[in-house]
Amino acid sequence: MTSSAVEGLIIRSAVAADAARIAELSGLLGYPIPQEAAVSRVEHVLARSGHVLLVAERPSAGLVGWIHAAEQERLEAGRRCEILGLIVAAGQREQGIGRRLVARVECWASEHGFEELSVRSNIIRTESHPFYQRSGYTRAKTQHVYRKKI
Ligand SMILES: CC(C)(COP(=O)(O)OP(=O)(O)OC[C@H]1O[C@@H](n2cnc3c(N)ncnc32)[C@H](O)[C@@H]1OP(=O)(O)O)[C@@H](O)C(=O)NCCC(=O)NCCS
Repeated sequence: MTSSAVEGLIIRSAVAADAARIAELSGLLGYPIPQEAAVSRVEHVLARSGHVLLVAERPSAGLVGWIHAAEQERLEAGRRCEILGLIVAAGQREQGIGRRLVARVECWASEHGFEELSVRSNIIRTESHPFYQRSGYTRAKTQHVYRKKI
């Protein structure tokens, strides 16, 4: 069980000044964001309607996690909301921070008219699968992702 009240935890909207730490955490996950691109990417996301970017901050440790979710629109499925990125710093895990970030995004999504939230998680993210299941998410399908340089 994780504690429901993480000491001193603040969940707030990200600002451009958080970009360097957001990039650092992303790099630890294996998705490095070049520091020179971090500020513009964060600013771009913050400027877009239909996107939410939140950070988790602790007085003792600074910025310890972030979550990004956005509206997606598909012809066959209509408007949907999807978690596009989530990371909690390694030393801060299993204390309830990830769940608090997801809960805040669920509130945001609900306020924006969505009835469902989805997330795609790489099978190699072994910790994410029990996490989402413990957070009430049901596995819907398994996919392959194809890419081509154009
Ligand atoms: C997945 C991740 C965000 C979870 O964050 P967290 O702050 O550790 O999660 P919480 O402490 O809020 O855990 C919530 C529930 O999930 C469970 N959980 C979390 N990590 C777990 C693990 N490794 N194994 C089993 N259960 C786990 C917790 O025990 C808790 O369950 P309970 O309170 O119902 O008993 C974090 O491990 C992480 O950043 N991983 C690397 C990045 C990643 O995989 N991101 C998701 C990609 S979409």
